Amino acid sequence: MEKGQLLYEGKAKRLYTTDKEDILFVEYKDSATAFNGEKKAEIAGKGTLNNRITSLLFEKLKAAGIDSHFVEQLSDHEQLVKKVDIIPIEVVVRQVAAGSLAKRLGLEEGVELARPIVEFYFKDDELGDPLITEEHIEILNIASQEEVLALYEKGLQVNEVLSQFFKEIGVILVDFKLEFGRDNKGNVLLADEISPDTCRLWDEKTKQKLDKDVFRRDLGQLTDAYEIILSRLGGITQ
Ligand code: C5P
Repeated sequence: MEKGQLLYEGKAKRLYTTDKEDILFVEYKDSATAFNGEKKAEIAGKGTLNNRITSLLFEKLKAAGIDSHFVEQLSDHEQLVKKVDIIPIEVVVRQVAAGSLAKRLGLEEGVELARPIVEFYFKDDELGDPLITEEHIEILNIASQEEVLALYEKGLQVNEVLSQFFKEIGVILVDFKLEFGRDNKGNVLLADEISPDTCRLWDEKTKQKLDKDVFRRDLGQLTDAYEIILSRLGGITQ
């Protein structure tokens, strides 16, 4: 597969065209950002770790019957994915209070929620990705009611599968963010990445943070935490 021209560069990844119209090349960068890009660093090895973890998780989801844009991991930094039009909605699923939920509702971090909840955020850097309701989505005209229902249901399905995977390796899946896109037939497909950049992952016994909060809160070496996740998932950390 030929790597074509650069299509898009985000904070953590670059997207390139390929010689197939419906397939893209994704390159995972070593950049770490937090607080809407206010905090930045280059962390050697981070791109490889996220590429490997995301590839493993998308494969596990596929085996559980949940399709995504993921086609295959090509190299340490690269994946092939199906081309989709990203829906500008970040779908956050939570089982334990942390981060912005704990802050917004005055909940203590670590309190288990009575049931998993789904939140929608408008993916817009200039606005700082605000929390939005279904009615906001309607007036913004960024997704149909049917699509919103699909985002909600798929979010909960991914939560069920992933929280079980992580439980088996002694990790609590606290919360995570998903992105979805429309394929060339208009189907809603899980896209982007699922990695410690986009999930909160705590060691079940020690409650050690094994995710991007290590970087956000200066809790240690980010790659050490991500390596623990990759090795527990059965991936190669060298
Ligand atoms: O910050 P907040 O508590 O709302 O984040 C919820 C979850 O979504 C966390 O796992 C966080 O890493 C993820 N997230 C993300 N990208 C964003 C916002 C949140 O991956 N832009």
